Amino acid sequence: MSAYRNFIDISDLTASEFTGILADAARMKARRGTPAATVDKPLAGKKIAMVFEQPSMRTRMSFDVGIRELGGEPLMITGREIELGERESIADTARVMSRYVDAIMIRMLNHDQLKELATYATVPVINGLTKRSHPCQVAADILTFEERIGPLEGRTVAWTGDSNNVLTSWVHAATKIPFRFRIATPAELAPNPALIAAARGQGADIELTTDPAAAVKGADSVITDCWVSMGDKDEGRRQNLLRRYQVDEALMAKAADKAIFMHCLPATRGEEVTDAVMDGPQSAVFDEAENRLHAQKAVLAWVFGAKVA
Ligand code: CP
Ligand code: NVA
Repeated sequence: MSAYRNFIDISDLTASEFTGILADAARMKARRGTPAATVDKPLAGKKIAMVFEQPSMRTRMSFDVGIRELGGEPLMITGREIELGERESIADTARVMSRYVDAIMIRMLNHDQLKELATYATVPVINGLTKRSHPCQVAADILTFEERIGPLEGRTVAWTGDSNNVLTSWVHAATKIPFRFRIATPAELAPNPALIAAARGQGADIELTTDPAAAVKGADSVITDCWVSMGDKDEGRRQNLLRRYQVDEALMAKAADKAIFMHCLPATRGEEVTDAVMDGPQSAVFDEAENRLHAQKAVLAWVFGAKVA
């Protein structure tokens, strides 16, 4: 049996593993910058590859800083410079990288290729976003929700907009933590029925609608994301379909009084969200971005089986 774990999807973890990562993240965040933080060095002597096939600011910086804070050394590689998946097979890339580094964090659109990489790697692989999912983001989102609102269990979360990778990871989270998840998308961009059926089969409380107002009514958090994700080709069609899913002050007013607004960023202000909401009192987006760092430090410790005191 291998002595490490991969972090590819929240759906791969047990509920207690996932909530354990969130609890570790909160503990590490609380002692960051204090003398007590010296206990958080599970990556001492370890080198971690950060491989990016697509652009990134938050994922790149938060992993780089997090790896250093945990005592490790990051190595940044772009997919372009190694011609990922072109110059040699993904399997051979995985085998070779495993001889150099102690873990691989990778962003690549093709989820099946990321899984293939994990199959042939002999070190932990962490999903830094694929076209299918963005689990590190949703770990940070839930950390943010729980800091601002309290335990997610029993609360209501509303998603409005496209059904994309971030949404998929939220659906996976809904199978681990019992909360109500209302999803509003245009019918043409509805989530994959198999994803929703599988999640409901595992007890997730998910409501689908095409009406953003119905989704956000009384919700504790309103979440959206860009209308055009990396790799999407039908920009004009998406903008037309998604126009009425914008989060503006009128939509936020339908949520609970203390509801927070979340967005993984980068945001296209004026499309999926207005400036007034992004910069308004309910916006948690910059805490969310910061929490990528804390959540990922907990993920990095977890893949090596390190205990966070
Ligand atoms: N939210 C997020 O993953 O941002 P980046 O694309 O900048 O990494
Ligand atoms: N859904 C977005 C998230 C970016 C962090 C994308 O995939 O481009």
